[in-house]
Amino acid sequence: MRISGVFCALFAVVRVTAKTAANASAPAASANLVHGSYIVELEANESLVDFYNALSSEHGIKTEERMSMGRSSKIFNGASFKVLDSAGHDSPKLMDLIAAKPAVKSIWPVRTVTLDAGKTEEPKTKSPSPGSQKRQESRTDDNDDSSPDTFMPHLMTQIDRLHALNITGKGFRIAMMDSGVDYTHPALGGCFGPGCLVEHGWDFVGDAPRGGEPEPDADPYDGCFGHGTHVAGSIAAQASSNKYGFSGAAPGAKLWSYRCWNCAGVGSNEILVASFLRAFEDGADIIQCSNGIEDFAGWADEPWALVASRIAQTGVPVIVSGGNSGGRGMFSPSTPASGLGVVSVAAVQNQNDPIFVSGGSYTTNEVDQNNDNKSAENAYTFFAGTPYPAMALTLPLWSVGNDTESVSDACSPLPDDTPDLSDKLVLLRAVPDARASNCYPPDQGRNIQAKGGKYMAYYAYSNTSWDEQFIYADGIEGVISVAPHQGAAWLEMLGRGVQVNVSIPDKNSTKEVLVELEDHETGGFAADFTSWGPNWELEPKPQVASPGGRILSTYLTAMGSYRVMSGTSMGKLQSSAILSFRQDESADVVQKIASPLVAGLIALMGEARGGKLDSKLFRRILSTTSKPLPWFDGKTKTKADILAPVQQVGSGLVQAYDAVFAQTLFDVDSLRLNDTDHFVANHTFTIENAGAEEATYEIGHMKALSMYAKVSTLSGDVLAGYPNPTVDSWAELTFSPDGYVSINSTRAEHLVLPYLGVVGSMRSAPILTPVTAFLANYGSPVDANTSYTLPRSVQDPAFEPNTDDDGRLPNMLLSPIMGTRLLHVHVVALDETSKNDMKTPTGVPCLGALGGWPKRYFAAVSQRAYFLGLLADGTVLPPGSYKMVASALRIFGDESVAEDWDVIETVPFSVQYSNGTAPSR
Ligand SMILES: *[C@@H]1O[C@H](CO)[C@@H](O)[C@H](O)[C@H]1NC(C)=O
Ligand SMILES: *[C@@H]1O[C@H](CO)[C@@H](O)[C@H](O)[C@H]1NC(C)=O
Ligand SMILES: *[C@@H]1O[C@H](CO)[C@@H](O)[C@H](O)[C@H]1NC(C)=O
Ligand SMILES: *[C@@H]1O[C@H](CO)[C@@H](O)[C@H](O)[C@H]1NC(C)=O
Ligand SMILES: *[C@@H]1O[C@H](CO)[C@@H](O)[C@H](O)[C@H]1NC(C)=O
Ligand SMILES: *[C@@H]1O[C@H](CO)[C@@H](O)[C@H](O)[C@H]1NC(C)=O
Ligand SMILES: *[C@@H]1O[C@H](CO)[C@@H](O)[C@H](O)[C@H]1NC(C)=O
Repeated sequence: MRISGVFCALFAVVRVTAKTAANASAPAASANLVHGSYIVELEANESLVDFYNALSSEHGIKTEERMSMGRSSKIFNGASFKVLDSAGHDSPKLMDLIAAKPAVKSIWPVRTVTLDAGKTEEPKTKSPSPGSQKRQESRTDDNDDSSPDTFMPHLMTQIDRLHALNITGKGFRIAMMDSGVDYTHPALGGCFGPGCLVEHGWDFVGDAPRGGEPEPDADPYDGCFGHGTHVAGSIAAQASSNKYGFSGAAPGAKLWSYRCWNCAGVGSNEILVASFLRAFEDGADIIQCSNGIEDFAGWADEPWALVASRIAQTGVPVIVSGGNSGGRGMFSPSTPASGLGVVSVAAVQNQNDPIFVSGGSYTTNEVDQNNDNKSAENAYTFFAGTPYPAMALTLPLWSVGNDTESVSDACSPLPDDTPDLSDKLVLLRAVPDARASNCYPPDQGRNIQAKGGKYMAYYAYSNTSWDEQFIYADGIEGVISVAPHQGAAWLEMLGRGVQVNVSIPDKNSTKEVLVELEDHETGGFAADFTSWGPNWELEPKPQVASPGGRILSTYLTAMGSYRVMSGTSMGKLQSSAILSFRQDESADVVQKIASPLVAGLIALMGEARGGKLDSKLFRRILSTTSKPLPWFDGKTKTKADILAPVQQVGSGLVQAYDAVFAQTLFDVDSLRLNDTDHFVANHTFTIENAGAEEATYEIGHMKALSMYAKVSTLSGDVLAGYPNPTVDSWAELTFSPDGYVSINSTRAEHLVLPYLGVVGSMRSAPILTPVTAFLANYGSPVDANTSYTLPRSVQDPAFEPNTDDDGRLPNMLLSPIMGTRLLHVHVVALDETSKNDMKTPTGVPCLGALGGWPKRYFAAVSQRAYFLGLLADGTVLPPGSYKMVASALRIFGDESVAEDWDVIETVPFSVQYSNGTAPSR
């Protein structure tokens, strides 16, 4: 049975606008260019050899191939190459020259793509000896694969219900594009090759401990970085050989590991393009990647995103994490999550907060009804604080107060009748808001010390605030912190007059224990770090959401074997790494860990639904069976009856069981309303009842929160950061009403079709204004007619401005309010205006493009255009008076239409040259 529905989008006027100008001050980094190296895509039947020969014979450009790409698949005919003696070639100009050749489809610069190790909850205790670990799970150590799946990320997504049916992804090969895998890990099969869990792969980077030039080999082992090993566990960890008893989402699937990042976390877009193509050509069933570049957020033009899109269009599911720049506001899906057809996955906080802490013990003098002395050792867990007792201790517990809701324990001097505390462990509640109460840990330490106290045991005020304590107060010799439930239990005993003797082990023999506390604050909601969509051209992103915050998984065996990671990227594991790629600017790359679970889920769907995987069908099923999430503003729990916006969570949390057994199929995955200029008011979609029974469908509408995409600030409208202001007041620029078409059936199905659009014109939204683009001294405007003295050395192609130069070189700070496909900066001579024989896109007479410009595909991140006395064509500019003109193409803009450009000119400035070494102003 087929029924058709015509859905007329109702534009209740809803508007989106944004927050502070946090992104307008500091220029964000762009990914690092590798000088003189490019990725080229040729037209289908063109030959690379002919191309290289033509560059040499027609332009005198000698090249050397770096990597060939996609030779055997028909989806990409290209390679990366290096221009020999590139010093004399300005990159944008060379790219224009190459792009103009008929054989060339596209050309991009090679960029390094540096992977953060991710935020890991490292065990804070010393690494325990094997077998000394204890844990607080109900599971026993002899798990077998038939014990019920109790892993919280699986309970949240119905994966436990499929495991109970022995649906484990059997027969599917999942290619993971990451830092490799430590396959010696027992939970990851212990071996590499046919018959092993990690059965296939390739290492594009090599094993040098500090990175360096790529040295490819056939073995994707990772003994140094760790991220891929965490991802591998989320996909396919084996419960039976796993100390903590969890499994991956698809423990029956096989892993193909493509190692794209080296021990220093450095890879490149050429490696990523080559590896995606290789996984595709090798015949992987599913391609998964937990990483992305944020610099081009919202555009799909990087070759990596392009290749990911093409692979997805052939029908192979490509599952990618959406990115970690939730704070940037909307339009921020990273590359390649931004790709068309790619499933971009948003992160939801785990409902449990797994942490590694230390184990201790306590005894009581309590006697129970049977007169059994309870002096037997009881276990408790703690975070070791600073300072930590110099040696093992056992002390009677004494409590400052007896109120588990206290907000001021030991914040004022303890009463006169306080006993001598020198031989006691003093229990107190952590202060929820130290600033509000003006009571900081050292204050509490001093009040306790005044009564002789030396040892303190904090209990956290909430599960999610449990962490280390640092007490810098004379006389305090040791501090630990315990969970709220432990504090409450001890207080209750003390209240009944029971004596509690707590043992704190010495630092060298603490035991590492995994504890999982329920998170009633953020658990189950979208993570605040998850990147928002849609893309700049209003393609819906992300598609779905999955647990990606605080996930326990496997880790390098040399580094404890297990870790908890979150999507937020933090410090690098190898900070002293020597990179062989030259770095122009610092990188801005993230990884996220929500996508492995969805990749595993696709394998479960593949096994259960049978037949060939088709990415389009699976995307539609995933999208329509996911569960919209309640909105959470990141601060206060608001389980209000309003749903989180589609541009934050897509269709919502994936529901594996519902997806696998879906009997109602749609021919679309979402409805694209576009913007006011391109409004698509009527949408037709078809519902197919693929089940045996008849069903009646009821179609309705569920409203999600609408938000302003932008906010007004003193420096004009800027994109809002998370959490965006909600629509209860009106603002200048108005966007996106969104929500879900809700389809319920008489078979108890609850399906959704997300829809998304913008109220307002993307094309009318300004990109540059006089307050977001100006001649700058760091972040401030420079007076007209300022005179600069530049050393001739700035004209050396190898010269790279540093942050000091932001105050002493003429530079235009450009802080686009929205993304732009094309950003030009031209130079205008003010002394001899007759020399201005070129034109900007809007017809302003000029000398030509500034060296290094134009640049393409920007997210709304700041850039600086430095005047280094050179034009893009290599012309050296004489001393004199100049101005710079920036032209930014509006979204959906037409390059040939003057109104589609924002044009901002700097004030005039004058330049002279010196033989000195430093520029001055
Ligand atoms: C699960 O499936 C595998 C492979 O088909 C089979 O060997 C195994 O016996 C099944 N387990 C159960 C509990 O049905
Ligand atoms: C812990 O180990 C270190 C280094 O092995 C040693 O110097 C120290 O004395 C030990 N501390 C205790 C309390 O045993
Ligand atoms: C808590 O302490 C107060 C004052 O010291 C006392 O009156 C009260 O009975 C105590 N409550 C419990 C449950 O111990
Ligand atoms: C919105 O309309 C523009 C102009 O027709 C088009 O280029 C763009 O792809 C559309 N976006 C979506 C998501 O359909
Ligand atoms: C949408 O469809 C309805 C019914 O077919 C039609 O009356 C209406 O004109 C259409 N609107 C647009 C904007 O195409
Ligand atoms: C479908 O069911 C959901 C959940 O019970 C409900 O929120 C929604 O309004 C229903 N939709 C329709 C069209 O009845
Ligand atoms: C700067 O160097 C050039 C070439 O070395 C020299 O001709 C010129 O006199 C120098 N100028 C000054 C001001 O030192």
